Parts: sequence; C-alpha cells; structure tokens
Amino acid sequence: MMTLAEELKGRLRVAFEACGIEGAALERVGVGSATDLRFGDYQSNAAMVIAKQAKQNPRALAEAVIEKLDVAGLAEMEIAGPGFLNFRVPPETFATRVKEMSRDERLGVSRVAVPERITLDFSAPNVAKPMHVGHIRSTIIGDSLSRIGRFLGHEVITDNHIGDWGTQFGMVIWAWKKELNRDDLEKDPLGELLRLYRIANEAGKADETLREACREELVKLQQGDEENHKIWTECVGYSLRGLERMYERLDVSFDHWMGESAYNDRLQGVIDSLMEAGLARESSGALCVFSSGEGKPEADPFQIQKKEGWENNPMIVRKSDGGFNYATTDLATIDFRVEKWGAKKILYVVDHRQGLHFRQLFDVARRRGHEDVELVHVSFGTILGKDGKPLKTRSGDLPQLEDVLNDARDAARITIEERSKLEDSGEKDDLAELIGISAVKFTELSHHRMSDYVFDLEKMVALEGDTAPYLQYSYVRVRSIFRKVEGEIDLKGAAVSLTEDAEVHLARMLIRFAEVLPVVLGDYRPNLLATYLLELARAFHSFFEACPVLKAEEAQRNSRLVLCETTARVLKKGLSLLGVAVPERM
Ligand code: ARG
Repeated sequence: MMTLAEELKGRLRVAFEACGIEGAALERVGVGSATDLRFGDYQSNAAMVIAKQAKQNPRALAEAVIEKLDVAGLAEMEIAGPGFLNFRVPPETFATRVKEMSRDERLGVSRVAVPERITLDFSAPNVAKPMHVGHIRSTIIGDSLSRIGRFLGHEVITDNHIGDWGTQFGMVIWAWKKELNRDDLEKDPLGELLRLYRIANEAGKADETLREACREELVKLQQGDEENHKIWTECVGYSLRGLERMYERLDVSFDHWMGESAYNDRLQGVIDSLMEAGLARESSGALCVFSSGEGKPEADPFQIQKKEGWENNPMIVRKSDGGFNYATTDLATIDFRVEKWGAKKILYVVDHRQGLHFRQLFDVARRRGHEDVELVHVSFGTILGKDGKPLKTRSGDLPQLEDVLNDARDAARITIEERSKLEDSGEKDDLAELIGISAVKFTELSHHRMSDYVFDLEKMVALEGDTAPYLQYSYVRVRSIFRKVEGEIDLKGAAVSLTEDAEVHLARMLIRFAEVLPVVLGDYRPNLLATYLLELARAFHSFFEACPVLKAEEAQRNSRLVLCETTARVLKKGLSLLGVAVPERM
C-alpha cells in the first residue's frame, strides 16, 4: 500500500513537472508530516528548495504548482509563509485510509522496492567475562534493527561476533593454571571464570612481568598450544551456555555465532596481503598500517593531534610479540562476510568509544579493495547511574546484565502488587518478568542511540510516563473493550466515519505507522518508532475518553471498534519490532 505521504508526493511531483521542473530538481520534491497541526497534516518545502536553486520567487513557484496540483479528495492546499505547501487532510480521507489499513495484514507497511542484504554485527560480548550492562545497548538496538529490517523486506544476516580470542583469555588461562577451583567451576562456571579473570586483572595492575606472562599465554593459545587450547575450549563452552540463557531471556537470537576465534586461520593471510599491497610496515617491532596521506589530518583516523603537531596514529595489525589484534580479526571478518555471505552492507552496533577503531578499519578495508561494501558504525552512548556517571555497582564494577534484569523484574513485581488486578501469584511472576525485561528494552530504544541516559528502574517500570508498561497497559485496555462486546460483530464490513476531533487524530496517528517505519532504518534509530508508539497510545487514550465506543449506536460503534482494533494491532506489531511482547491481561 502506498502511504498517504507517498501518494501526495507523487501528485506533487506531477504538478512540479507540469511547471517545467525536471531532473535533479524534481528529485527534491518531498512531503513529510507537518510539525504543527495548526498548519495542516502534511507539508512540503519543495517550492522553496527548488526556487532557491533556480533563483526564482518561491511563493510564485508555489502558486504555479498549486494551480496544476490535483489532490482532489485527498487534501486541501494552502501556501504559507515564504512558500510552504500545506496539505490539510479531510476526515473522509483518513477514514478511507484507516479502513484499508485495517484490512491489510501488514497494516499498510509496504516491503521495500529494492531489498538489501544487510549483515548485522551486534551484541558481541567478550566470553569468559559475563555480559555486562554495556552490551545491553548493542544487543537491544541490534535486535530491533534486525526485526525492523526483516519486516521491511530486507535480507538481514545477524552475527554474534563474540570476543572469544582476546587478551582476557591470556589472563583467564594464566589464573586457571594457578587458582582454578574445580568444585566452584562445576557449581557456578561463570562466577568462577569471572573470579579467575579478576585475580589476573588485579594482580596485573602493578606487575608488568605478570601482564607479560598473561600475554604469553595468549600467544601460546593463538599459536595452537595444546594445553591452552584445552582450557580455552572448556571456558568457551561454559560461557556460551551462560550467554544462551541470557539471550533466551531477552528473546534475542542470531543466525551465526562467528566469534573472533573463527578467524584465527585467516589472520596470517590478512597480514601477507597487507604486506604485499604495501599497506603495512614495521614500526618498533609491530606491524602497522599508516595513513594513506589522502585528505586533511582532521579527518584522518591515522593521525592524532599532539602539542608538537600531527603525529602518526597507526592501526596495529601484529603486535611486537607476534600476537594479532582485534583489528586484524575484524579485517579477516570483512573478507569472510564478503566471500561467504556476499555482504554489501555491514552494520556494526558498537559503543561510540570504538569510533576510532572503526574509522581505521573501514579505511583499511577500502584500501584492501572492499570499496563497494558499505560499512557503518552504528554507535551509541553510555548508560548512566543516577549520579550522572557511567553506571557502576556499589563495589565499583560494571553491573552484570543478569543482575540488571533481575532488578528490573523485582521492580516490576512491586508495581504489579500495587496496581494489578491479577490474583494468581504465578501469573504475577510471569508478568513481572515480561514487564521487567520490556522496561529495560523500551527505555533503551526510546532514547536516541547517541545520547547517554540515566538508568532509573523505578521510572522504567512505572505505568505512567514514556514506558513499556504504559504501552502494554494501553494495549490491554484496548483489548478489554473487545471482551465486553456482546454477540458477534463482523468488523470486516464496517464502514469507518470520523466525526470527533479525537477520533480524527487517532486515525491520523494510525496511518503514520507505515510512514515512520522506513525512516527508522534511514539513520538506524528505533527511537523514532518508540516515540511514535507513545504518541499513538496518547491519541488512543484521548479518543477513549472523548468517544463512547460500546454505548454508541451500531454504525458508530463499529466504526470506533475498527479504530480500536487497528490501534491494538499497531501497538502489538510496533512493540514486537522493538522486541517487546504484550500481555493479554495485567
Ligand atoms: N567484543 C567487542 C566488545 O565487547 C565488540 C565486538 C564488536 N564487533 C566487531 N566486529 N568488532 O567490545
């Protein structure tokens, strides 16, 4: 189904063409939803943009365009200010649109005309350390992008590039050999692995020889040492089981789990090809890639500004001890994804602090011949504690994801005790788990990914506010109307007619669903969908207060039931695209 905005845009293009506009200028004709409803429902600044380029009078162009514009039955037109074209949509148009949408399985959302194959690299925790809250943003944003991408018709390949080959293994193996407690390992594997990691980490802080010893263990592992490999296999096995449990709880899954270790055999090849191409050279014992020398130093990831001026900031691909790097593995990973999966576009959902790594990586990948692969760092900010500093536990560690989820569940349980009509304690437990996890996810997705946000459990699980429970409650409220309907009603044949302002507004919001979704992928911003759903829920509550549904006479009742049903479907579908499920009762 074409959205109303697309339909209007199509008509507008025809009118611009009739006024002699063509080529690139015509491509600039766009229509978006108006920011201020007082001026209409949709708006276009095309006349201004195009007139400016052509050094014409924008208002005169706008007037000429309106002369030629045929939007009869869809909208009424007005010119505002210097040449804005405002479209005011009459209730009948909204009514027809909602009716069509209600009949459509996809709620009016079309599949993209040209599906892309998108490789999505997200979550990627480091094994042998439990997943911590920092990985939560990547996991939740990545999962939502994959759901939205697939719904829009793209081919999305999800890959959990777990850190199962890095520095931490040198540390864990070193401590394993000295301090392993077998009993504890059986009882609480992740806890024991974390303890080992911490022993090495603490001891290494003031002791360079110990850090050296850990690095040696890592190099031995990477070079195939049998004992180290055995320890590693055991560690990874335990960790994966712990991770899988977590993903199950989060309802997140992956097509592939190609961890860093999977690329070990390719690393030497990457080094060889870098040498052959003259891209890497030795510097103080390490093998490095330096700047290509193109472009300004400000934009060059291989240069860094120091007091004395610009200095080289190379990407190290082989350390002086012979060990390979995170970057080497990432280069091999790109080769693999291109070769095996035909990757044309790879998204990395990773913390903004890795920005430099990715700028260097993308540049080297391009110089190695992957110019036609679109590589994107979908970065995000930091989760803060109530003190405004990065979230930490009382002991100063990064909080473990599992603890965070348990706390969220417990906070939700308290709200449920206070507010829910449910009686059964088992049902309340299930609801608490659902709401707790949803609250964490939705809070994440309702913020712009680049902004830092404060992790406030109480706020997140509240029924009022911009929260998951508010939306879930809205859904349950709509559904409850249908439980009170007496007898059979066939809504398929029902006509939609809109009389009250509140119902017009609900319809206006409903049809926006199909307009919002494609924009989300434009800049990888699920928060646009989250914000939209909140607005829709508010529109529903206003409608429900102003307009009787079950007490209205039959034709109006059925028309309003169509609005209710469509609202419930959009809420449920929209939330599911954010990875949030809805309960039927709460
Ligand atoms: N394991 C890394 C970390 O926790 C994230 C990996 C992201 N993906 C990648 N291809 N580099 O920091």
